[in-house]
Amino acid sequence: MWQTKISKVEPDHIVTRGYRQENLIGTVPFASVFFLLIKGEMPDEKEAKMIDAIITSSIDHSVTPPSTHAARIVASAGVPLPSAVAAGILAVGDVHGGAIEDGARILQEWVKLMNKNEWSFEQTAQKLLADLKEQRRRMPGFGHRLHKNDPRTKRLYEMADDLKISKEHMKLSLALKEEFAKGKALPINVDGAIAAIISDMGFDWKLGKAFFLIGRCAGLIAHVYEEMTTQKPMRRMCEQEVTYDGPWERDLTE
Ligand SMILES: CC(C)(COP(=O)(O)OP(=O)(O)OC[C@H]1O[C@@H](n2cnc3c(N)ncnc32)[C@H](O)[C@@H]1OP(=O)(O)O)[C@@H](O)C(=O)NCCC(=O)NCCS
Repeated sequence: MWQTKISKVEPDHIVTRGYRQENLIGTVPFASVFFLLIKGEMPDEKEAKMIDAIITSSIDHSVTPPSTHAARIVASAGVPLPSAVAAGILAVGDVHGGAIEDGARILQEWVKLMNKNEWSFEQTAQKLLADLKEQRRRMPGFGHRLHKNDPRTKRLYEMADDLKISKEHMKLSLALKEEFAKGKALPINVDGAIAAIISDMGFDWKLGKAFFLIGRCAGLIAHVYEEMTTQKPMRRMCEQEVTYDGPWERDLTE
């Protein structure tokens, strides 16, 4: 027996989280229906704006990220669009898109510790970074190869403040930024911003990668379509890009 609270389908009748599908269509924006699916309740006006902004912030980052690269290379081999998009999705992992999940987990755990021990944000940030340093780990959601001030973070944090969504997790992320600034200044990247905001919105950290995935899937579709319709098939590396550093040539008798 299968049980689900998500939707009910009967002949000529579809209900999603209690709402008739035909009433959602054309009335409730996609991002809000996504919120409804994963939270079980409709977002209020502020949450609806925030979730839409989060999805848009993840939508694309050009050809270079592993998922887009993978999707375009697979598309160039002549497979159907869903297979190429799936190849991109398969590249989303702990290092690409995964900082949202791990960042949200760490922020959620340390906000609990902070409240239990009545530490300040500054104390909590210091203890958290010392703990990560001891484990030789980096703080997910901080640093960026390209952006010194990730424009997506700035906008998301402005919105979270204006919409009064920002709470303890965002404050802790800003306290961490202050701590980093005492040594090597590191920006909060878009993954770190999403991690803090979804935590303040009450989402389980286990959903972290979902927010990246739902946005980036649209970007992957655009890239796969562009690859299929504008590029020569079968992308490959040229020989000059590959260095062989295996054993020297030898005869079978040796
Ligand atoms: C994104 C990332 C790979 C970019 O790295 P980069 O700008 O190329 O920087 P490097 O990996 O060369 O690191 C430079 C220094 O900053 C430190 N650093 C970088 N990001 C750090 C982080 N998130 N936490 C702690 N220290 C960090 C490194 O330890 C290194 O220190 P060192 O010079 O004393 O050795 C890196 O910041 C990182 O691993 N971040 C965490 C994962 C993450 O958020 N990923 C999502 C990216 S959108």
